[in-house]
Amino acid sequence: MASITAAIKKPIQRLPWWVGPITVTAVLTGFGIYTMVAVLFFDRGEYANYLSPFYSPPVNSPLPAWLSPAIFVLWLPLGFRATCYYYRKAYYRAFFWDPPACSSKAQQREPRSTENYRGERNLFVWNNIHRYFMYGSFVLLIFLTIDTVRAFLPEGSFGITLGSLIFLVNVTLLWSYSLSCHSLRHIVGGRVDCYSCVTGGNARRKAYSWLSVLNQNHALFAWLSLFSLLITDIYIRLLLAGAVTDLRIL
Ligand code: FES
Repeated sequence: MASITAAIKKPIQRLPWWVGPITVTAVLTGFGIYTMVAVLFFDRGEYANYLSPFYSPPVNSPLPAWLSPAIFVLWLPLGFRATCYYYRKAYYRAFFWDPPACSSKAQQREPRSTENYRGERNLFVWNNIHRYFMYGSFVLLIFLTIDTVRAFLPEGSFGITLGSLIFLVNVTLLWSYSLSCHSLRHIVGGRVDCYSCVTGGNARRKAYSWLSVLNQNHALFAWLSLFSLLITDIYIRLLLAGAVTDLRIL
């Protein structure tokens, strides 16, 4: 699996250094605007047996009807991504140009010299709560997995539709993104110096090796799961608008 990321990286590394930060800026800004509009102006994320991942789990909102209940859910996955070690690298480069890239020419354009770089301080220290967002995100993933099972029950019995497959791909990518998290890998085995000295050391060593394989593709899962979230929500909105009909495969 590691070769997937390596194979994708090679042609990307041949591009001019500024292509990466500008693409990340455009994608993250677009995602942010889409999410804001979807959450603030559309409160219906449900069609038949499909529930948009932006609205899962459904909550009874005590707030005025014009304020979407999705805001009670979204803070968690958004916090998880905002504090993610990979996304931090991506958006520090894209939005703060700090540094914009690693090539020597790009490094010269960095507003501060690397000698003065003092790491993530002040407000950015809050990024250290990433692991708590991770714990919460696993709870959300359980709800999203249940939603995916429901997506395969179109009329109360098993059936495969285009929508159910979109749900399946989305939840698989979200699990892959979460399981490949650097924090999880550290908690499971990264902080252990001697596996034979701790309880369940062998199991932890195996889990660590397995998570390490996933972890090598964390950036890939970060982007693919972002796109799959968007596609799932857009598909439900197209169904709600009557712009498409759900294709029944089985
Ligand atoms: Fe990216 Fe944890 S480091 S999700």
